[in-house]
Amino acid sequence: RRFTVAVVGATGAVGETMLNILAERQFPVDRIIALASERSAGGDVDFGGRKVEVQDLATFDPAGVDIALFSAGGSVSKEYAPKFAAAGAVVIDNSSAFRYDDDVPLVVSEVNPEAAKNRPRGIIANPNCSTMQMLVALAPLHREYGIERINVATYQSVSGAGRSALEELGRQTGALLNFQDADPQRFPVQIAFNLIPHIDDFLDNGFTKEEMKLVWETRKILGDDSIQVNPTAVRVPVFYGHSEAVAIETKKKVTAEAARELLERSPGVEVVDDRKAGGYPTPVTHASGNDPVYVGRIREDISHPRGLNLWIVSDNIRKGAALNAVQLAELVAAGG
Ligand code: A2P
Repeated sequence: RRFTVAVVGATGAVGETMLNILAERQFPVDRIIALASERSAGGDVDFGGRKVEVQDLATFDPAGVDIALFSAGGSVSKEYAPKFAAAGAVVIDNSSAFRYDDDVPLVVSEVNPEAAKNRPRGIIANPNCSTMQMLVALAPLHREYGIERINVATYQSVSGAGRSALEELGRQTGALLNFQDADPQRFPVQIAFNLIPHIDDFLDNGFTKEEMKLVWETRKILGDDSIQVNPTAVRVPVFYGHSEAVAIETKKKVTAEAARELLERSPGVEVVDDRKAGGYPTPVTHASGNDPVYVGRIREDISHPRGLNLWIVSDNIRKGAALNAVQLAELVAAGG
């Protein structure tokens, strides 16, 4: 069977990659529909070397769409995803609009694929990019050793904030190298040659929403509300690829060697862990443009008897967003 597939937000950083990955993985597409705002309607996007005209989401009739991949922000999802679902489409939503609803599954394809089968509202939520890559690496360790607590600091690239954020890093870098002002627009302060410990809104508990996504989503995806997560989320001047310094505490002691051996045979993970210069993953040398979640710097915590440290790097636009969304579409297509 072949499917009519709509990509909502097709002109964006994630939407463009969704189209590329659908083509790359030869998803059984009968008809591809590219949707965005009125601003870009009439232009075109690339799908496997062929041009597809962009249509205006606001005036599009979703009847006949089998699978809709949404990545146009939370408010667009809130308004249009239920309309697509009511018209019979399975919606795979990359925004945070439905992630915490009990009747919407939140699925990482390597971790809890069976959850995608139960979707009473016709919507499957795609997790936040930072949670996604962290759990591809940590879920196998949780199953074997029982994770009690996760300390995580993220180093998140600007592409996670969309095309305008990629442009801002480029523009500020050029400006500063030419002795001009950075002129922050998309980010609250200068991002070029800087770090910003602030992603998404501040909440009453002093954490940002991006940080709390790591808490809420980890518990929902692993189906374990007892896991403690202590996150700090930081934006860094990297174009593609998020990195995470992760320290876990487990119920059963796990040695670095056992963790390495387990991760080497875990789906979606690639271990890069030679204890020498360059023997670790970075966004530029490994993650950018590639599918795996790379894990390196695996070592036992010298301050805790059952602690393990890991460095986890992945392309936030691919596994963190578009790739997982397409993998979920593959599960749906396979009858899951
Ligand atoms: P457009 O290009 O027409 O603005 P990014 O995250 O890279 O900024 O991309 C956001 C995506 O979401 C773009 O494809 C953008 O389309 C789309 N989008 C934003 N607002 C709307 C809207 N109100 N209706 C439809 N698409 C939207």
